[in-house]
Amino acid sequence: MCDTIILNHYFISEIKEIKDNKIPVIVSVFGDTNEVYLEVATKAEKAGADAIEINISCPHAEVASIGIDKDLTFEIVKFLKEKLHVPLFIKLNPNVTNLGEIALAAEKGGADGVVAINTVAAMVIDVKSKRPILAHGSGGLSGRAIHPIAMKKVYDLYRILKIPIIGCGGIDSWEDVVEFFLAGASAVQIGTALYNGTEIITNINEGVTNYLKDNEYKSINDIRGLAHQFKTQEVPDFD
Ligand SMILES: Cc1cc2nc3c(=O)[nH]c(=O)nc-3n(C[C@H](O)[C@H](O)[C@H](O)COP(=O)(O)O)c2cc1C
Repeated sequence: MCDTIILNHYFISEIKEIKDNKIPVIVSVFGDTNEVYLEVATKAEKAGADAIEINISCPHAEVASIGIDKDLTFEIVKFLKEKLHVPLFIKLNPNVTNLGEIALAAEKGGADGVVAINTVAAMVIDVKSKRPILAHGSGGLSGRAIHPIAMKKVYDLYRILKIPIIGCGGIDSWEDVVEFFLAGASAVQIGTALYNGTEIITNINEGVTNYLKDNEYKSINDIRGLAHQFKTQEVPDFD
């Protein structure tokens, strides 16, 4: 969950173990101040992290989200970029009206990429007790339901950003992954679907590979952003 403020020795030994097996590792960091983000990110970097992702967008956290403010986003990215040596990715909060401005602030601050999206603010109320079921009242919706929302964010961000976008949200099949690449993503993340087991990764790899072969593409890079070649009548959110 989002409260990994202290990167304790368990996480450090886990990062080291993954690195010992020669697997690239991107460490997700959360904090309540710029200094805490730096402290945790530095520990992760020293443990061998190949890149750091900062979560500035957790809907479960009590601290005010940096990710809802473009100036705070710019400041934290610039602050961390001056001190870290590995690539820095910024996980974006979809629950804002100015996502484009916030993403551009991250890019201006020196971010190496953005991750879109974190969970979508949501809530459930128990009809018997009449109270919200989550302790904080609301939380974040993930999984299939948010895939079209994530698609729209990635599609619109691709039109304005120069840095790469990592697509995330509701991936459940290889088609979802291809869709993200067509919208402009350079990589993807899978969260909720992993609750059903890690076989999804093998299935997606197979599905994407077959799709590329069947359509005579050499690489996933050949399909990145292809959906933008079609004119739509829609006015994008971030123009
Ligand atoms: C149980 C759970 C815990 C999560 N914890 C984090 C977290 O600590 N940091 C973060 O950046 N995102 C966190 N997320 C958000 C996911 O990384 C992802 O952005 C989101 O769930 C959308 O992807 P998905 O539909 O594939 O799950 C969490 C999501 C879930 C469901």
